[in-house]
Amino acid sequence: MTPSTQAKPQVYSHRPNEDEVMALEIKLLLQAIAFRYDYDFSHYAQASLTRRINNCLKKSQLNNIAEMIPKVLHQPEFFELFLKEMSVTVTEMFRDPKVFKELRNKVFTQLKTYSRINIWHAGCATGEEVYSLAIMLKEEGLLHRCQIYATDFNNQSLKVAEQGIYKAEKISEYTHNYQLAGGKASFADYYQAKHGYAKIHNDLKEHITFAHHNLIKDQCFAQMHLIICRNVLIYFDKTLQNNVLSLFNQSLLHRGYLLLGDKESLEFSKQKNNFDTIAKDQRIYQKISYE
Ligand SMILES: C[S@@+](CC[C@H](N)C(=O)[O-])C[C@H]1O[C@@H](n2cnc3c(N)ncnc32)[C@H](O)[C@@H]1O
Repeated sequence: MTPSTQAKPQVYSHRPNEDEVMALEIKLLLQAIAFRYDYDFSHYAQASLTRRINNCLKKSQLNNIAEMIPKVLHQPEFFELFLKEMSVTVTEMFRDPKVFKELRNKVFTQLKTYSRINIWHAGCATGEEVYSLAIMLKEEGLLHRCQIYATDFNNQSLKVAEQGIYKAEKISEYTHNYQLAGGKASFADYYQAKHGYAKIHNDLKEHITFAHHNLIKDQCFAQMHLIICRNVLIYFDKTLQNNVLSLFNQSLLHRGYLLLGDKESLEFSKQKNNFDTIAKDQRIYQKISYE
């Protein structure tokens, strides 16, 4: 055998560690999803994104993230499972009651001056928060003037939200939250209890339109007096947070209100100077009018 035909041991120029391999697999998986479904998760916060992908991997009993790529490309039902894992739908009625109290005291008093009130509730999950809002508006005599758009990108959650039927075992906790939020009547006035479930009364639903909306890529809702988006931006990186906040700014009327709740803030965002602070701890802001 001449030296040129002898088999030589292969020399690899780069020996990636496990983390580097996983980072590449995640990047390729997200590219496949964006290509096939037009959902771009590349600006979701890295740590929670990696955790959720790994949860999805465990549940699907695949060997590695790379094996998820052909599944998402060829099986839309697998993508639905992935989406469900990516969308954290934890919510409750009158969650963080003080936020609702401040909303009632500082914002509703101003909204009373309008004959028609448009509200966008972004990332509504299974609807508990938007029904809480509707209850408060009703108690202030404002609900009949309101059109509330409650949106999410998780269609399964939206279906639950539209039905407005929740487990009765949660009711005592929700009643407590309602009272802390300054509820003016009895929480039991707003639902019908039946077979272990509580069904929200239809009159609260009449002013709510549930709709699919993806904050990553869909357009703004024009002419809003109030936008509520709580516990959603925490899952996004700075770039995506800025994009979404700019979308909210475009969607608001002059002097419109933005409620982010106590987990998120405008503090380090590009929108900071476009809003006045109305409630510091509950992160309620009002759009500055430059007119
Ligand atoms: C933790 S829940 C918050 C629910 C409610 N706002 C609350 O604070 O109780 C987060 C919601 O944001 C939604 N979400 C995440 N990314 C989204 C996106 N790109 N577009 C629209 N909704 C999104 C999820 O589907 C989920 O229902």
